[in-house]
Amino acid sequence: MSEVHVDPTWVQLSYLVAAVLFVIALKSMSSPRTARSGLLIGAIGAALATGVLFFSGIKLANLALILGFLVVGSVVGLVAARRVKMTAMPQLVALFNGVGGGAAALIAVVEYLVVDSDDLLFLIFTVATVIIGSVAFSGSIVTFLKLQELMTTRPVVIPLGKWITILVAVATLAGGVWLIVAPQQWLLWALLGLGLLFGVLFVLPVGGADVPIVISLLNALTGLAVAASGYVLDNVLLLIAGTLVGASGTLLTNLMAKAMGRPLTATLFGAFSGTTAGGGAATSDRPVRSSSANDVAIMLGFANKVILVPGYGLAVAQAQSTLRELADLLTEKGIEVDYAIHPVAGRMPGHMNVLLAEASVPYEQLKEMDEINPEFSATDVVLVVGANDVVNPAARTDKSAPIYGMPILDVDAAQQIVFLKRSMRPGFAGIENEILFDPKTTLLFGDAKDSLNKVVSALKNV
Ligand code: TAP
Repeated sequence: MSEVHVDPTWVQLSYLVAAVLFVIALKSMSSPRTARSGLLIGAIGAALATGVLFFSGIKLANLALILGFLVVGSVVGLVAARRVKMTAMPQLVALFNGVGGGAAALIAVVEYLVVDSDDLLFLIFTVATVIIGSVAFSGSIVTFLKLQELMTTRPVVIPLGKWITILVAVATLAGGVWLIVAPQQWLLWALLGLGLLFGVLFVLPVGGADVPIVISLLNALTGLAVAASGYVLDNVLLLIAGTLVGASGTLLTNLMAKAMGRPLTATLFGAFSGTTAGGGAATSDRPVRSSSANDVAIMLGFANKVILVPGYGLAVAQAQSTLRELADLLTEKGIEVDYAIHPVAGRMPGHMNVLLAEASVPYEQLKEMDEINPEFSATDVVLVVGANDVVNPAARTDKSAPIYGMPILDVDAAQQIVFLKRSMRPGFAGIENEILFDPKTTLLFGDAKDSLNKVVSALKNV
């Protein structure tokens, strides 16, 4: 047994301060207005917790190595986070999350080897950390590969996949119980391997639009692994921080599944029964009505009420400032303008809010789906900028559609609809959108930023 270390009071108080900072950070992140300061507060809490450890009197072997890796890790994290494109944020989160889960699992393994205790609770939490941490690590790596398109984004169903997954899950749990009852080193390594295998098998059948939900779930799992490692390491702050991540990750997972109108079980196990949100490619030769930026400017200029519907394409084109310029111009002309925000527009929760906040769009103009939907029928023109799935009526009517059941923005209730997109390619779900062929729909083809720039110049002369 290694000697027991008790943190001095000032260290425990510092941990308490860090824990309070984490809670304030989470609370602040629930509103776009305070999210930025929330992130900063959270980072200060994490820096405090890390810094305090070095002065807590705990005996740190290999101090130079620890400091070296701390610097390397911080530089890699900083550069990656600064360079990442907003549209690639989910896969970066997946990667960072996976590293967190993997670290928790490795710490538990090392602690088991060093401490060599047969205390029942210690063993239970060690087993929990190793299993959950390794599942979160390998699962997150697969979600990263999927979203980065380094492998197919479609659900991958291997022959007998369901039964192999169940077998591996049962073996992992049985191995865990065995290790608790009769602790042996080789079992711990086997458990680590089984956890890694289960993580891969668990995520492979999830595809398309469901991947971000799984990222959120794995994030919650990492939180739980970190909380369990808090017990293993006898560190209260890890317990608190891990529990916060676990709880908020679980809430976010549920919210995302609800916003997509699918129960979580359908997201996770849908591929086994053929009900997943895929990502194929549908194209059609049917005629559509396309027009010029001038015509769109005239249509907008003579409207009383306009609703702007931003989607993933707005982020790709980085056209948020140009969209705001258009909205300002319309408002100056006395036209009522609102932005309709769908909860899963874009590729991550709050994507459109963040994007439009970058262009300093006033929050009052952003309206959530439930608030804006009754207003479409009294709207002259809806301008859909790089959105597709979130306005696709197939979600209401087509039971075979991967987005069936997802609540959508009711743009088809408006008098006229204008789509800004580059081609007839479908959105993320890979299915055709009937509204594109509606007689009251006009398409303005081209990159959203180019098209918006042209509409803005034309509108100045209307
Ligand atoms: P999508 O359905 O993916 O449609 C995006 C549209 O933008 C496409 O029609 C595309 O058409 C157009 N586009 C792309 N680049 C463009 C550019 N540079 N200029 C103009 N248009 C451009 O987007 P959405 O309506 O925002 O729906 C989001 C989808 O992603 C949903 O299926 C959702 O479930 C899924 N999803 C959401 C999340 C979260 S949490 N937000 C996470 C993962 C997946 P062209 O290619 O013809 O231009």
